[in-house]
Amino acid sequence: MIIVISGTPGVGKTIVSKELVKRLNLKYFHLSQFVIDEKLYIEYDEERQSYIIDEDKVKDKLEIALKESDNIVIESIYPSLIPKADIVVVLRKNPIVLYNELKNRGWPELKIAENVEAEILGVISQEAKEAFNGKVCEIDVTKISIDQIINKILNKECDYFIDWLSDTEIQSFLENLDNIISSHENNI
Ligand SMILES: Nc1ncnc2c1ncn2[C@@H]1O[C@H](COP(=O)(O)OP(=O)(O)OP(=O)(O)O)[C@@H](O)[C@H]1O
Ligand SMILES: [Mg+2]
Repeated sequence: MIIVISGTPGVGKTIVSKELVKRLNLKYFHLSQFVIDEKLYIEYDEERQSYIIDEDKVKDKLEIALKESDNIVIESIYPSLIPKADIVVVLRKNPIVLYNELKNRGWPELKIAENVEAEILGVISQEAKEAFNGKVCEIDVTKISIDQIINKILNKECDYFIDWLSDTEIQSFLENLDNIISSHENNI
């Protein structure tokens, strides 16, 4: 059983993955940590305070690692790098709530704006659907407890119509994020 837990940074992947690991007696595999430990990155992006990963290397190494064990929960923000999975859960969170939580992490403004914009546009969800058509289960975690999230995953109670952009408040929020991102681009 390979369960992938994906979603934008801050949506709750780690806490949900670890709870699933406990309940189902699976192993926890943190893809970003694996990338750092095995040095599967090209360089460190100072402005965004994150690594730019070497996708080919990650795919190859991951294939090898998964041959050793396939009773596993994989936490990843990059679902398309995972060679196989039984279910790909994409956790979704209201972008305004997510923005405030990422602000509390003290992240740089550009990194927050890019990630929240990706959540609004459903970038990771789209990537997951392209790579794992029919195996993707999205869950809006904004107002529910960890226990409720776990139960939804186990019962395959997925949310099929998450569309943040239908909310006019989020549309204008997106414009603000766009302005933040373009002001950084203009400074380069
Ligand atoms: N449904 C929830 N209810 C209450 N607290 C939550 C919920 N989901 C996440 N949290 C809390 O939000 C914070 C972020 O969660 P977590 O670290 O699991 O996110 P993540 O998606 O793994 O982030 P990253 O991509 O940076 O690894 C944690 O402090 C976690 O305990
Ligand atoms: Mg995490």
